[in-house]
Amino acid sequence: MNKQQTYEEVLPQIAALIEGEQEEMSVLANVAAVLHERFGFWWTGFYLVRPTASGIEELRLGPFQGPVACMHIGKGRGVCGTSWAREASIVVPDVEQFPGHIACSSASRSEIVVPLFNSNHTVVGVLDIDSAQLNTFDDTDRIYLEQVAALITKAIYS
Ligand code: SME
Repeated sequence: MNKQQTYEEVLPQIAALIEGEQEEMSVLANVAAVLHERFGFWWTGFYLVRPTASGIEELRLGPFQGPVACMHIGKGRGVCGTSWAREASIVVPDVEQFPGHIACSSASRSEIVVPLFNSNHTVVGVLDIDSAQLNTFDDTDRIYLEQVAALITKAIYS
């Protein structure tokens, strides 16, 4: 089965899993689990936009599967913070070539980050997936993971 076929199978499973569910952490935890298990990624999880004590927003570690990760990421920092600032998905074929990449784990070699939007099109978090191999992610992943993000918006951010 190629990855497109796997995404075609996984997408309706995610839709069924989260339909009618409203608890943010439960939905995000199960979406991370499905993606991580089906594809065998190195790290799969969410960072959520949260206010800090000083009132400035940051990305805070949310539900994930995989090794221990950084807990705070500033806007414009790393791949996640850049995706948030640009309000766009970012595919990184080789993390060493991405200026400012935040290495939570030295085993991570490639990465994709997809923003999560609310119904006002404000970024409320990001989906971050890391691979221990180079060149794991491409437009196929981006397109399907943006559909996963749209399902999440519909379930818990609308
Ligand atoms: N590499 C990410 C940080 C998060 S971890 O990889 C889980 C980044 O540069 O934003």
